[in-house]
Amino acid sequence: MDTKTLLEWSARYHTPNYGRAPIILVRGDGMRVWDSDGREYLDFGGGLAVVALGHCHPRVTGAIREAAATLLHVSNLYHSAPAIHLAKLLCEHSFAERVFFGNSGAEANEAALKLARKHARERLASDRVEFVAANNSFHGRTLGTLSATGQPKYQHGFEPLVPGFKHVPYNDLRALERAIDNRTAAVIVEPIQGEGGVVVPDDDYLPGVRKLCDAAGALLILDEIQTGIGRTGRLWAYEHAGIEPDIMTVAKALANGVPIGATLCRADVASALGPGSHGSTFGGTPFVCSVALATLSTVIAEKIPENAARMGQELMTGLRALAAKHAVVKDVRGKGLLIGLELSVAAAPVVDACREAGLLILSAGEKVVRLAPPLIVERADCARALAILGAMLAKQAG
Ligand SMILES: Cc1ncc(COP(=O)(O)O)c(C=O)c1O
Repeated sequence: MDTKTLLEWSARYHTPNYGRAPIILVRGDGMRVWDSDGREYLDFGGGLAVVALGHCHPRVTGAIREAAATLLHVSNLYHSAPAIHLAKLLCEHSFAERVFFGNSGAEANEAALKLARKHARERLASDRVEFVAANNSFHGRTLGTLSATGQPKYQHGFEPLVPGFKHVPYNDLRALERAIDNRTAAVIVEPIQGEGGVVVPDDDYLPGVRKLCDAAGALLILDEIQTGIGRTGRLWAYEHAGIEPDIMTVAKALANGVPIGATLCRADVASALGPGSHGSTFGGTPFVCSVALATLSTVIAEKIPENAARMGQELMTGLRALAAKHAVVKDVRGKGLLIGLELSVAAAPVVDACREAGLLILSAGEKVVRLAPPLIVERADCARALAILGAMLAKQAG
């Protein structure tokens, strides 16, 4: 089937909720993807911070093949070894003691919110049901996580939202202190706001949030859906801050592109979710857990977060040099391989121009260009990406 016909069918048969670029991607290998007309692209979007080990990594592909030929699905009425091994590996490499598996980031956050509310109602007070979240945050598209999300543009038209969410400015401990009270079940924040424009808080922010939660008896939920699995140069972004959450949500890169979400927590918190209180048909199937196990064990064994830190530095240095040359760049920020370039002009034309020149990048909000390449990225890839981005920024400047 030719590209033009497929694009026509896409418009005719899909719901129109995605603003997709007019290309059809058909194949991937490592840092590169190819479209249906045979054009090659360097992928610095990584499927929205998902493909941490690059496209079609041999260990991931091997795990997919093996799991598909062994046992694809069993219900949660039974145990399955890959889910047990994956939960164990996640606990051994994080603060957590218990794990719940779902299928997406939104589902991981839904589970976190439900868990925190049930924990607070049963252990603290029956009216302790509220959440404090941050302005400009992004936590997902289900009604619950949309209500946690602090960006009205995503909520518009879907009201009424779920009650019980207060929003305060991000990186503002005073505002958070004023918002938390004895009805607060939990505070939910991202260690770095990804969709909101790659906003990195001050170093004392997360430790301050931790202290405020402790003082009020509220749980701290860290949404590491975008920042987790090595993206920021450590396995978990909370490690930079020297604190631990009570609940953490993970998704995106956990199975390198196979859908999965995980809600991690301490054992005393988890005990609020008794048998039958929560569940998901596809959560933790042997198939997806085998793939996640292959992904996470490779990330750990090959010290992938360290590469993210090194290559992040490399990119930052190059981007700062671009910023010094091109006045349209107002700010360069990020950690590891989650990097934002704030422009004085709209980001979308730069993203489009880069794509036409063979580089896939992302936007995050109206004026921020976001880079979230696979964490296996090498120096030569960074040099190529910087060259293309530099040339496209020069055009923007006129
Ligand atoms: C921080 C954060 N939380 C939650 C989500 C929602 O994840 P999903 O799209 O898998 O539901 C995202 C997705 O971009 C995210 O970046």
